[in-house]
Amino acid sequence: MKLDGRITNLIVTGFSGTGKSLVAKEVARGLNWDFLDTDDEIVKQTGKPIVEIFRQDGEDTFRELERKIIGKACQQRHMVIAIGGGAIVDPQNYELLAKTGVIVCLEAKPETIYERLFREAASSPETEVRPLLAVDNPLERIKQLKATRQSHYAKADWTIHTDGLSISEVAEEVIKVWRLLRRYAPGNDKGKAQSYIDKDIACLVETATQIYPVFVGYSLLDKLGEKMKKAALSGAITIISDENVFSLYGSKVEGILKMAGFAVNSFVVPPGEQTKSMDYAIKIYDFLVEHRAERDDIIIALGGGMIGDLAGFVAATFLRGMPWVQVPTSLVAMVDASIGGKVGVNHPEGKNLIGAFYQPNLVLADCQTLTTLPKRELTSGWAEVIKHGMILDAEFVQFLESNVNRLTKLEPEFLTRAIARSAAIKAQVVSQDEKEREGKRTILNYGHTIAHGLEAATQYKRFLHGEAVAIGMVRAAKLSERLGLLPSAAVERQQALLQKFGLPTGFSGLGLTEITRAMELDKKVKGKAIRWVLLQDIGKAVIRSDVPQADVLAVLRELAEHKKS
Ligand SMILES: NC(=O)c1ccc[n+]([C@@H]2O[C@H](COP(=O)([O-])OP(=O)(O)OC[C@H]3O[C@@H](n4cnc5c(N)ncnc54)[C@H](O)[C@@H]3O)[C@@H](O)[C@H]2O)c1
Ligand SMILES: [Zn+2]
Repeated sequence: MKLDGRITNLIVTGFSGTGKSLVAKEVARGLNWDFLDTDDEIVKQTGKPIVEIFRQDGEDTFRELERKIIGKACQQRHMVIAIGGGAIVDPQNYELLAKTGVIVCLEAKPETIYERLFREAASSPETEVRPLLAVDNPLERIKQLKATRQSHYAKADWTIHTDGLSISEVAEEVIKVWRLLRRYAPGNDKGKAQSYIDKDIACLVETATQIYPVFVGYSLLDKLGEKMKKAALSGAITIISDENVFSLYGSKVEGILKMAGFAVNSFVVPPGEQTKSMDYAIKIYDFLVEHRAERDDIIIALGGGMIGDLAGFVAATFLRGMPWVQVPTSLVAMVDASIGGKVGVNHPEGKNLIGAFYQPNLVLADCQTLTTLPKRELTSGWAEVIKHGMILDAEFVQFLESNVNRLTKLEPEFLTRAIARSAAIKAQVVSQDEKEREGKRTILNYGHTIAHGLEAATQYKRFLHGEAVAIGMVRAAKLSERLGLLPSAAVERQQALLQKFGLPTGFSGLGLTEITRAMELDKKVKGKAIRWVLLQDIGKAVIRSDVPQADVLAVLRELAEHKKS
């Protein structure tokens, strides 16, 4: 057999119930490649269901057949191969597969697997029950068997957590992985791809212009230079930061980058939203001109969302676009502002009026930096994290509910998981609708229609953005309930979660007219209808443009009168 060290195939594996076969099929369709499922092939060749082969001929016979089929498949090119959950345990199979393809392992929690298998069995009662379910305590059995295989699954090139994702969403992720590796491994050289395969990648963002990784981890700043080099960034660096962040992390980051061989300059601006202006963009242009920055030089945004928006705007416009890297240091920036490529500055007449879509080359979030973020900023950031769960991921909401204390105490492992998942949700949405043209990105506005009104009505002075969003989410959920979309128990659940994270869920001091005027509801009646993002369930948002004004006014009146809800 000829093995030339090139990636010719994509292999999808994982435990039963992770959807590998359906995912692989969809990936093959997406890439226009051939598809092979080793289990199906065995059934075809023997004319017997797998359960029967195991029972009549024994596992060894099954594994032998599997080995042969895998051997043959690895000689193919452009093939998406779904392999059974046990196949990768065999060292001979693993070696062959690893040499010729990228192995993607689909992960899911035992509870998810149990639920999926159970649902599958219930929907096709005529087929024989899987052996995994035909025991006294299937969940326990799944946990045990999965634990014994975990070390083999860990050898995969890439792992995708499928809990809460649909088959097509997982397939999209696999295709993104393939595109990313192809980009960083010219000629599909497996060795080069291997060096880019990185366990710190929380998710990938793919848009028409760019595909880039979002790294999330604890103490990850130390690896910034290394990750940038892997992403083929090699120019001189200008760090843009604000005084608060730079005084804490500036010299550390400069040191790390210099150690990695980069030339580094820093430009530090005052903290605060007023700095996100054309005036400061011009000051940065002046600095870049003075330092003779070139097109391959790199801008690093080191700070919160204000810095990300400002530095990104400069990166988008200076020399018609320079490479740039986001190093978000606030919770809002990590899970929201750094992902999606919206960059810009404020105009005296309105926030974010001047801007562009300009994607970074990579995002690196070191959750440890949150230990110095002021408490109120941190709390405000949790609103966006909770929002991501509420609109798209019920399991993530459960995770947040069960770990409030650990998360608010910034326990590294839990914090990293929460931020990685929240960032991945945002990444998934913006990958589907980079420029907010198809309406998919609209669901990120959950809680924001009212929040923007509250912020405007209080001249952006009273609330931090996340605080207003928390109040807006409570109202949007109430509106959903009023329209018969959402049970009251879910409204209460959301409210309880927001409160546990220390977020406000109501307030007093604004009248109904002030709120409606700020929301421009009076103008909206004549013009375009508001696209309300509402909830159908925890983890399931819907967009509705037909919400009667009377219902909106009713939930706003409650807010203005600050009735205990
Ligand atoms: N581009 C987008 O998609 C997007 C999305 C959401 C928000 N935004 C923008 O982001 C901005 C809000 O972001 P933000 O909340 O991060 O505000 P911010 O950048 O102003 O940061 C808030 C405060 O925290 C400080 N800070 C940041 N990280 C710190 C750390 N690790 N330790 C100590 N202090 C730290 C900052 O100096 C600042 O005083 C707004 O301008 C908003 O428009 C953009
Ligand atoms: Zn927001």
